[in-house]
Amino acid sequence: MITIVSGKGSPGGTTTLAALAAVWPAPVLLADCDPAGGDLAPGWLGQWLVAGAIRADRGVLSHATATRHATAGDPAALLEHVQTVPPARHVGLLAGLTSPGQHSAISAAGWTRLTASLAAFRTATGRPADALVDVGRFGAATPWPLLLAADVVLVAVRPTQRHVLAARPVLAELAERIVPERLGLAACATSPAGTHEVRAALGRDIGVEIPIDDRTAAVLSDGNDAGAVPGRSPLLRAARRAARRLHGTYHNYTPAELRVTAPLVSAGVLTGGTR
Ligand SMILES: Nc1ncnc2c1ncn2[C@@H]1O[C@H](COP(=O)(O)OP(=O)(O)O)[C@@H](O)[C@H]1O
Ligand SMILES: [Mg+2]
Repeated sequence: MITIVSGKGSPGGTTTLAALAAVWPAPVLLADCDPAGGDLAPGWLGQWLVAGAIRADRGVLSHATATRHATAGDPAALLEHVQTVPPARHVGLLAGLTSPGQHSAISAAGWTRLTASLAAFRTATGRPADALVDVGRFGAATPWPLLLAADVVLVAVRPTQRHVLAARPVLAELAERIVPERLGLAACATSPAGTHEVRAALGRDIGVEIPIDDRTAAVLSDGNDAGAVPGRSPLLRAARRAARRLHGTYHNYTPAELRVTAPLVSAGVLTGGTR
């Protein structure tokens, strides 16, 4: 479980997670847990949302409602709230809230159940799946269980003074409850020099580095080009490198081994009852 959180100012956390999911070398859950409301369905997947292929009412909120009488997270209960992402069929979307007011309906217990379900999730074919979790901007409504249970928490930051200053208090608060080895940075819309500056200014490791690439970013954040993920672009090349390295880190192999021994998972693994 990799969770991305940000400070003020929209550095690009959601775009970075969408990019990682699109090129993830295995089945992956993309969980839109921004308490201020999800951006993935109306953004990257907006055309499928409008066409009815993605449903806004199936996701974080429907899981919380369906499990409200459960005491612990039930991994099997999650599958029916997960939808296949049309332009990246190895990705299962847990759609986010459709309005900021809904987060109060989830409550801390709801986020705790979801965290347990994500951690134990199995695809329709019984395989475990990684989870990429977007918790949006850090604040009073932040779903802490999704930060505390993550293998790594990355704070999204752009290489600008404003974003670096916004990331600092977030890192300080997170560091009170998350050990340094599990707390890093996602450098968004960056350059090699920018990443260097961000690392130096914030004193944390870079978990993901995504270059500035307006065109691909607009596909993933706003559904430009009908949400079709380009085969090649600077953004996706970097995301692919990061995805392989992260996947390898938590599954104990090197990216080079992946090419030889672990085939990419075919489409439609994360289907469940969603089609
Ligand atoms: N790597 C990038 N290169 C260029 N623009 C980017 C990049 N990442 C994000 N953006 C842009 O930044 C804006 C905010 O992105 P978003 O992912 O919604 O931020 P957040 O989730 O942190 O609020 C969007 O317009 C998006 O297209
Ligand atoms: Mg976002």
